[in-house]
Amino acid sequence: MKINYSLITRRTFLNTLLGGWLLAFLSGSFLALFKFAFPTLGKEPDFVILKNVDDYMNIPPNSIKPFAWGGKLGIFFKRADGALVALKGVCSHMECNIAYKPEERKFYCPCHKGWFDETGKNIKGPPPKPLEIFEYTLEEGKLIVARKGVKVELPKA
Ligand code: FES
Repeated sequence: MKINYSLITRRTFLNTLLGGWLLAFLSGSFLALFKFAFPTLGKEPDFVILKNVDDYMNIPPNSIKPFAWGGKLGIFFKRADGALVALKGVCSHMECNIAYKPEERKFYCPCHKGWFDETGKNIKGPPPKPLEIFEYTLEEGKLIVARKGVKVELPKA
């Protein structure tokens, strides 16, 4: 079957092509500028330094105190036996923030009903692996929370 007329004009075709190219170019430029302006956005740190050490060390047993792990949630947690644990408060399934349920002594992810025990081990629901546990040290009155294996040296004053 032969069509005797065009469904779109040459002008419309060229305008669409040029518009699409311009849109792709401007989007790429804007993204590059945005990444230049905010280079750490979305990246996680290897360590954070927390002041007000007592606020974290003196929390009551079976409770938590949150802190900023880059743009994500970090949790300082004192177990019922008094042991202190620092962990990433982000579910290993799809990165929702978790909450601590003191009455059950477990961490709960409300997104898909995932559960973690006091050690951060995934025990129920879809999370495929445990929560990330951090190491922490006290140095010069500061609390340094770091990924496992990361050595942090504070600059000497
Ligand atoms: S994101 Fe936590 S269970 Fe799915």
